[in-house]
Amino acid sequence: MNEIAKQTLPTFVVEERAQADRAVAAEIEALVRAKPTAALGLATGNTPIGVYAELVRLHREAGLDFSRVVTFNLDEYLGLPLGHPRTFRCWMCDHFFDHVNLAPDNIHMPDAGLPPERAVESCARYEAAIQAAGGLDLLILGIGRNGHIGFNEPGSTRDSRTRIVDLAPLTRADAAATFGSLDEVPKQAITIGVATILDARAIRAMAFGPSKAEIVARTLSAPIGPDLPATFLRQRAHVTLHVDRDAAARIGERNRP
Ligand code: GLP
Repeated sequence: MNEIAKQTLPTFVVEERAQADRAVAAEIEALVRAKPTAALGLATGNTPIGVYAELVRLHREAGLDFSRVVTFNLDEYLGLPLGHPRTFRCWMCDHFFDHVNLAPDNIHMPDAGLPPERAVESCARYEAAIQAAGGLDLLILGIGRNGHIGFNEPGSTRDSRTRIVDLAPLTRADAAATFGSLDEVPKQAITIGVATILDARAIRAMAFGPSKAEIVARTLSAPIGPDLPATFLRQRAHVTLHVDRDAAARIGERNRP
């Protein structure tokens, strides 16, 4: 194993995923109370659902104020019409946006309803908007079973930025149940890049359940590189990984790569 492959990622193993949800939400709460104009990077998927539920509770019960917070989502399917129930925008409304007091103008999602030629331009605008907001203060992240972060599929380089990507077969297969069938799953998406992710001043990555055990172990031990984009997280300080017992089950097994 070379030096770079040894770099570690501080990992917190919890008995119940709700503990991780509360811990990550508490960090976001502390950030927003200290910096009401904080810029948050937001993920979709099963993984962060509990964090959003906890943030909604903190808004309702503890007055956590999102009125000046700015948000940027990681990714969006390409080609779904605005308002399609499977867009990540709709998902975010259901789980978070519709339940807190974010200002609509402060919510940013990749503009993926555009025709491809205009979507390309919108990627550069998205990067510029993140810069204009002063960069991401804290980004929450799930990990795909193939090691993707956002929709940075295997092959994504360390210097990648917001762009249109082809979705990997495993990613599309994993989304098939949500869409009803594999045929319905878009073939492309817009995602912020690996470099965009790693520029965030803090990253809280999470993985729960037995289906993530293999990828969690590989994220922590495989050589850092584009074959497994989640390994790039080991190159940055201020990144922590939060996993439950099931997702942690294979950490430390030999010959992981
Ligand atoms: C999705 C998203 C990612 C997410 C990952 C894992 O498709 N694009 O941002 O982190 O795949 O999803 P889940 O949390 O449902 O396992």
